[in-house]
Amino acid sequence: RIAYVDGAYVPLSEAAVSIEDRGFQFADGVYEVAAAFDGKLFDFEGHAARLRRNLAELSIDEPMSAKALELVGRKLLAKNGGGTALLYIQVTRGQARRDHPFPAVSTPTLVMTARGYDYAPRVKQQLNGVKLLTQPDERWGRCDIKSVALLANVLAKQAARQAGAFEAVLVEDDGTVTEGASTNIWIVDRNGMIVTHPAGRKILSGIVRDTLMRLAKADGLKVVERAFDVAEMNAAAEVFVTSTTALCIGVSSIDGTPVGSGTPGPVSRRLGALVWDEIA
Ligand code: PDD
Repeated sequence: RIAYVDGAYVPLSEAAVSIEDRGFQFADGVYEVAAAFDGKLFDFEGHAARLRRNLAELSIDEPMSAKALELVGRKLLAKNGGGTALLYIQVTRGQARRDHPFPAVSTPTLVMTARGYDYAPRVKQQLNGVKLLTQPDERWGRCDIKSVALLANVLAKQAARQAGAFEAVLVEDDGTVTEGASTNIWIVDRNGMIVTHPAGRKILSGIVRDTLMRLAKADGLKVVERAFDVAEMNAAAEVFVTSTTALCIGVSSIDGTPVGSGTPGPVSRRLGALVWDEIA
């Protein structure tokens, strides 16, 4: 496999950055995960725009333009066999002697990796549904920034996997559901409305979330952005998750209790099909 590190394509086994990179020492950086289907990047403009916004939030210089990023990404995907794959892009503030404030001068570190990714298991999960486990949302206050500081997400996801669940649902102290450890969470409420937490500092506004909202509305479905709590989620007719790696997957149970009939409902199945249509 080949990686991209600061201007060069190198074998993954030789790809390296400094141990004084601020990404390593302070998680001072951001990332994106974009999908390519049969070699074609999906919604890359959305990923590039979010990366740009996140870098601006942290006052990290853009390492290259969106167009250049796409060209490098495409080349890296091709060098790794093309096909259906995930492109990982990470930008950190760069290398500097360890000290909390921003260094006076630093050049952002840009690395990318690409690896083949099989959506077949996701398709199976779209049919059968996945299990969720609720976990306390222990993250910081700027979840809108796709920061590489993912420890709280990692711990929640690990707890879910140890419980045999696909994803952790993050819940605030007052019972509000924010999102998943690496997905956005949706419910179909008692009025048949499709509901997800409003964009803002409490969640990472997903690219698939945006796409799904657009597709749902175009299909005549009603979508509303509002907060909901665990009780409402557990009683919902349908619950589903979205992300670049999951696309749109219905939930069969939460903390061991079935959601609705215990298999993905018509809304999540319809939306899953619409997302696949968009990809094809
Ligand atoms: N995660 N919320 C969180 C906390 C995420 O980490 C992600 C994506 C999403 C969904 O965003 P998108 O639709 O843009 O993929 C929501 C990526 C896939 C990851 O960390 O692997």
